Formats: sequence, structure tokens, C-alpha cells
Amino acid sequence: MKRIKIFDTTLRDGEQSPGCSMDLSEKIEMAKQLEKLGVDVIEAGFAIASPMDHKSVRAIAAAVTNCTVASLARCTKGDIDAAWDAVKEARHPRIHVFLATSDLHMQYKLQMTREQVLSRIREMVAYAKGFCADIEFSAEDASRSEPAFLARCYSEAVAAGATTLNVPDTVGYSTPQEMAELIAYLRAHVEGIEHTDISVHCHDDLGMAVANTLACVKAGATQVECTVNGIGERAGNASLEEVVMAIHTRRDFYDAKTGINTKQIYRSSKLLSNITGVPIAPSKAIVGANAFAHESGIHQHGVIANAQTYEIMNSTDVGIPQNTMVLGKHSGKHALRERLVSMGYELTDEELEQVFSRFKVLADKKKNITSSDIEALVLHRRSTAAGACRLLSHVVNAGDGLPNTSCVRLQREEAVLEEVAIGSGPLDASFKAINRMLDMDVKLESFSLHAVTDGEDAIGEAVVKVSTPNGQVYTGTGLSTDVIESSIRAYVNGINKIMEAAV
Ligand code: KIV
Ligand code: ZN
Repeated sequence: MKRIKIFDTTLRDGEQSPGCSMDLSEKIEMAKQLEKLGVDVIEAGFAIASPMDHKSVRAIAAAVTNCTVASLARCTKGDIDAAWDAVKEARHPRIHVFLATSDLHMQYKLQMTREQVLSRIREMVAYAKGFCADIEFSAEDASRSEPAFLARCYSEAVAAGATTLNVPDTVGYSTPQEMAELIAYLRAHVEGIEHTDISVHCHDDLGMAVANTLACVKAGATQVECTVNGIGERAGNASLEEVVMAIHTRRDFYDAKTGINTKQIYRSSKLLSNITGVPIAPSKAIVGANAFAHESGIHQHGVIANAQTYEIMNSTDVGIPQNTMVLGKHSGKHALRERLVSMGYELTDEELEQVFSRFKVLADKKKNITSSDIEALVLHRRSTAAGACRLLSHVVNAGDGLPNTSCVRLQREEAVLEEVAIGSGPLDASFKAINRMLDMDVKLESFSLHAVTDGEDAIGEAVVKVSTPNGQVYTGTGLSTDVIESSIRAYVNGINKIMEAAV
């Protein structure tokens, strides 16, 4: 069985898509989860893009030990210098250089001739090789490049020291058959390709990113590039969980395996969704809420008789916790820790203390606490712990025909602040009160609310996107059995992020 390397670009191609930005601590937390998941390579960012990108690639390089950490770079010395500076402390550093090779991109974007592109690849791959042994070269828009010229580009890259050749379907234009044929063609025509990894990077514009990726695996690719939940530019990238579970479930067909601990898939997906505030569609393969649910009577009957009638995977294979009633009001810290460990969460003593105190508050309001409740508390530990401001209390007066009012009390560092405001609804009034007491010009861009668990005493999770006058958008999340409270908490969490970024 051949071993397929998983190159995760959630923190680079994924993070650069609208609504998916993450702050430094969130990126580090995600990178550590990717390490637990068992990805081979983490593309941590594009170091030259901004000082913040540089800082986060560097921080991830220091935080992660088992995975290779890569930074993207265009084919320029400045980009490569920045990429190397950011990854050089990693235990396994990689520089990922790219240059477009399609006639369209060379003529209109790069304004370079074919010969200029060939020599730039040669020079810049060799320049990067001077710093780092592990060099990936990507021919941007490879799937729309002329195959013979593309093969020459990759041959130059190999001669200059590239150890991985990546074949991107940058605009998601290709079909599975075409991608497979392209890989076969390159294997036959690129000099030295047998000494390199062949990688594939597919976008989902026509909904074929996963199918294209898998076709390339069948045709001989040894590395796949993907993102958790398929986030990424435009329609996104190939989804990691779908590619991995297809290879795992159909190993008879692909004759391949990955190093992924599939039991960490669900947790990785949840964490990303929680950090970015981007929900997972219920019908999303592998990690959607309905992915393992059987609604029709015929299916239910079949599954009871023999699970294999309608189930090709088991929800526990991807780490979905069984939603049983697990703990109650009288459960202690020890029981909570044990339950968390059995769900795959290992918290520090300080984190456990914090989750436990929220668990006690919840247990006072909710009789039966399920795995989903506990998971929600764990995922929200960042939003409740971090930040300069903390919600102390609130009272809202809501109704129809008269203005709605809200009185909010916050703790800001040592000071206790209080403000009353009128608004078109209870949340509008609450958010106005907060803006006024903090003297901040923050705009609510979007708001969503959903139940994390079932039943009338379900926990509600609110997600807000708030923006500053200079157009920066931040995601805030909040959790409570009271939906007004979870919404105010989400707003305060967003404000805390704005304050933190300003420091
Ligand atoms: O889609 C693309 O072509 C890319 C490259 C930079 C690898 O993201
Ligand atoms: Zn891409």
C-alpha cells in the first residue's frame, strides 16, 4: 500500500478566504490540532504577506514538532527570504515556491515569456535550496498550462533541487479524468520526477476538488493538498476529511493509506468552525450533522438489522462522540476530566478548572448534560477566558410597540462599567450599550444563532462578525442556555479581539 502525505493548507489557502481569518492564538491552537490529527505538512501561511502572517508562521514553526511546517513564497528573493526566516526554527522546515505557468497567467499576470519563466524557476528554486533541503515547487494554474511546457518547468525545478512537485488546479476547471491524465503525462515526461513527491492541489469551483484529488492519487500522486471543512479561495479547496475518509474507506480501490488519526477528524472540523464562526452544512459529507443520521424508516430498519446495509463508515471512526447523557449536577471534576479524556480532549489543569466552573453553572440550569454540551464548553473555553472585558450581568426589556432597552454591566480589567441603551430589538439595544460604554465604533456585520444540543434546555451558540471603521472583521462566539446572553457574550468576545489586535 502506498503512503499518501497529507499537506494541510487550512492556515494559508483556507485562512485567506473571506470570513475565515484567525488571530495568532487561534492559528496556534488549530496547528496543534492538525498535529494531533496527524497531517504530514502544515502550510502555516504566506510569510511575506504581512508582519502578522510572518509572526504566525514563525509561532507555528516553534509550536509544532511532528509535522513539516511550510511557508508559501512567490519566485522572488524577498519572498523566499521571508519564508525561510519564518520557518527556519521548525524541526522540519519547508519552503513552498510557486510561479504561474499557463499562457494566460504568464501573458496577463506575470508579463513574462516562457523562457523567462523557466529561468526564474531554476534560479529561485536553487536560491531557496540554499536555505532549506525540503523545497516544494508549484506551477500555478498547472491544469491550464501546455503539458509539454509544464513538464519542462517541473524538470527545471527538479534540477534546481525541488523535492516535491505540486500540480494545482488553481481555478477548479479540470475534470478527474484530465487530472489523472496530466499526472500520468508528467510522470512520463518530467526528468527526475521519480525522486520527488508528486502533489496535487485542487479547488472546488465546479464541485470536483475531492474527485480530482482522488483521481490523481489513483494516477500516482503521493501528496494531496487540502483544508479542513474544505475552506479556501472562492468555492474552497479539496476537503481533508472527505479525501482522507475516501482513501481510508476505499483502500481496496486506492491501495493507499494516510497517516491521519481519523478519530481526530470531527474535533478538527468543530474547532475550525468554532474559531472562524463558519458553520458546517448539515449535509456535509463526513462531518455534517446529518452525515450519519438515518431518517427514512426503510434505512432505519436496515441499519438495525445490519449496520452495513446503509453505513459505509462508523461515526466513531471520525471521532463523533455518542450523544449520551453523561454527567449531572453532582458530578465532580474528576468525572469531568475522565469524560473529556474519553472524548479525546486533554486539558491543562487551568483549562479544566475553567471548564469545570462553567459546567457547574450549566448543571444548575440543565438537568442532563450530554457529550455535545461538554464539547461546546470545551470549544468555547477561549472565548470565555480571554480578553479585557467580561460580561457581568444584563437586563433587557423587549416587546412590540415600545422601544426595547438593555442595561449591560461589564468588567473591563479592574473597572466595572454599566450603560443603558434603546434599540430596535433587545440585541441592538445591548450592542449599543456596549459600544457606548467602551466608546467604540463597532459595526455588527452578521449574526447567527443555533442550538448546539437538543431539547428545550439546549445551549444556544451565537456567532457575530463585527467590524472596525478601517474594515477589519473579527469573529466573536458566545454560549449560554439563554440566547440573549449568548449573543451578548459573542459581541463581547468580538470586541475583545478588536482590543487585542489594537495592542
Ligand atoms: O491554488 C493555487 O494554485 C495555489 C498555489 C499557490 C499552490 O494555492
Ligand atoms: Zn490554492
